[in-house]
Amino acid sequence: MTAVTLTAHPSGPLNGRVRAPGDKSISHRALILGAMAQGKTEIEGLLEGDDVLRTADACADLGAHVTRHGGGRWTVEGKGRFTEPMEIVDCGNSGTGVRLLMGAAAGYPITVEFTGDSSLQKRPMGRVLDPLGMMGARAEGATAGKLPLKLHGGNLKHIAYRLPVASAQVKSALLLAGLNAEGGVEVIEPEATRDHTERMLKAFGATLEITAEGHGRRIRLAGGATLQGSTVIVPGDPSSAAFPIVAGLITPGSEVRVDGVLLNPGRAGLYDTLIEMGADLQVLNRREESGEPVGDLVARYGPMKGVDVPPERAPSMIDEYPILAVAAAFAEGRTVMRGIGEMRVKESDRIALMAAGLEACGVDVAEEPEGMIVTGYGRPPRGGALVETHGDHRIAMAHLVLGLGAEFPVKVDEPGMIATSFPTFRALMAELGAGITEP
Ligand code: S3P
Repeated sequence: MTAVTLTAHPSGPLNGRVRAPGDKSISHRALILGAMAQGKTEIEGLLEGDDVLRTADACADLGAHVTRHGGGRWTVEGKGRFTEPMEIVDCGNSGTGVRLLMGAAAGYPITVEFTGDSSLQKRPMGRVLDPLGMMGARAEGATAGKLPLKLHGGNLKHIAYRLPVASAQVKSALLLAGLNAEGGVEVIEPEATRDHTERMLKAFGATLEITAEGHGRRIRLAGGATLQGSTVIVPGDPSSAAFPIVAGLITPGSEVRVDGVLLNPGRAGLYDTLIEMGADLQVLNRREESGEPVGDLVARYGPMKGVDVPPERAPSMIDEYPILAVAAAFAEGRTVMRGIGEMRVKESDRIALMAAGLEACGVDVAEEPEGMIVTGYGRPPRGGALVETHGDHRIAMAHLVLGLGAEFPVKVDEPGMIATSFPTFRALMAELGAGITEP
């Protein structure tokens, strides 16, 4: 049974060398592209978290032969297309899973019923359904653009679409749909977002033309080609590595090394920000693995100062603001985080929950409609609170990390949800010497 709460006790020093779990974004994409492709895709280092396991099940329901060989090694044998599933596709907590799968499924002449957990049923799907509708797909039963819904796909036509929000999920959904649209698809993103889909599509044989445009990009994808199975080695997830790294930065005497972390510029904004804050953070052994930049990160405890995070950096660290806010609580001065309205439509309203959780822990925090300002005093915050996570894994992990460096223990509810993205979080943190306990 999953614990009903977890408590992080003031700990330290944290020491050790660990590997981050596989990247969640790349894991979803490897399964989905593998299922759309003809032939065998071999995946190493797949993240075996609940979100990705839902996508693996969905790919099997959609006609692929998906096999787990153990230890993150999976194979997907695709038919070169999706077939109509017998089951409802339940993506659990995963926005990435459902949005990418809807995009992919829209390209085939099938009907698919999608649903998710109570959090996912509250999240906006119109951002994907509207452009898919322009391409010719039809969603049925989506009340106010929300799950559950039935998607009727096939016979898609080309659109050129400028994303109204900087979202890699929406971009990816349209690219996957465009593979089977007459004339392909053109997507213009106002800000550059993570480009794993583009990189992987190329590796699976799709033809894309990408040009820089302002802060963003114009992506033209040719339709009509069947993807060919490939090999994907999944690097470590920078969004998960962020938790042990920040734990090392805020816990006196610590030195924490996390190996094999993905450093795609579309994902590395947190690390740039921590370095600007004066964090003792080093990147060793920069290299390329499976077409993605990777490095080993070493974080040592030390003083940090508050900074203004440039709003245009938001897409490259959108999932990392909760843990940045924790680092900011230990730094000296104001850390200003703006242009982050998208945080309100993640697994929870992350601005509201971070503000509430930090305040309960005695941190000086101000909430704005699209931002958050944390003022630190260069010393540990009080802690000593029970934080409500509303089932959001990153809210839980961020506050547990805070508890390791705070004056008093911090308790979080619904810790079972951590398994959606970082099932080995407790074991990995324990290996570093963190005191995180069940009641
Ligand atoms: C993701 C994109 C981001 C991010 C999510 C994963 C992806 O969402 O928050 O955790 O894999 O494409 P948006 O595209 O909605 O910003």
